[in-house]
Amino acid sequence: MNADDLKRIAAERAVEWIEDGMTVGLGTGSTAYWAIRRIGERVKEGLSIRAAASSVRSERLAEELGIPLVPLEAIGRFDVTIDGADEVDDRLNLIKGGGGALLREKVLADASDRFIVIVDGTKLVGTLGAFPLPVEIVPFGANLTLNRLKELGVDPIVRESGGERYVTDNGNWIADCRFGTIDDPKSLTVRLNQIPGVVDNGLFVGMTWAVVAAGSDGGVKVLKP
Ligand code: A5P
Repeated sequence: MNADDLKRIAAERAVEWIEDGMTVGLGTGSTAYWAIRRIGERVKEGLSIRAAASSVRSERLAEELGIPLVPLEAIGRFDVTIDGADEVDDRLNLIKGGGGALLREKVLADASDRFIVIVDGTKLVGTLGAFPLPVEIVPFGANLTLNRLKELGVDPIVRESGGERYVTDNGNWIADCRFGTIDDPKSLTVRLNQIPGVVDNGLFVGMTWAVVAAGSDGGVKVLKP
């Protein structure tokens, strides 16, 4: 089985948690893609939900698939949000933002009763940090913000895509920061978010309701904190 098969298997298992009448948050990335596809199939089969997405690209996909989207202003809380992750540690803390949508993803996760994370098993790690931590920064005074990040002992790389600076759906930039091993994600997230030009970072601490991980043989593990 290839990585894409495993992503689809984890995604489809998570979508089983969605029931009629729920408000559903749609994640972003190559694993969330499979969840949105499966939700679209279930909607065609008669599932009645309302949804909102964490990125323009997931919103477009949901529209194409006929998933009923409502403005965030009309949503108090989400019953369920399903999203991928770049790393999951043994306490189910996450690094997210490899696809650049970390801020909107965190807004949705925080407003969700059940934040379900879908991954292939290779994303499960003991301690976070091998994956560079995405930090969303405002373009204004970016060099000054990057200097503040450097004071934390990293060499931030401003993300590019196709030879151009990558710009998030919120008009911001992403600085990818290699911290190495992140022993205390909670205190790192506080320190990062105290820097004025930082909008948010890709550490999701204590937000996960469940992780659905598909192993290389296609077997599914459900992990709860
Ligand atoms: C998007 O910004 C990210 O947080 C993704 O959820 C994360 O990078 C996982 O992406 P894949 O499912 O594509 O690996």
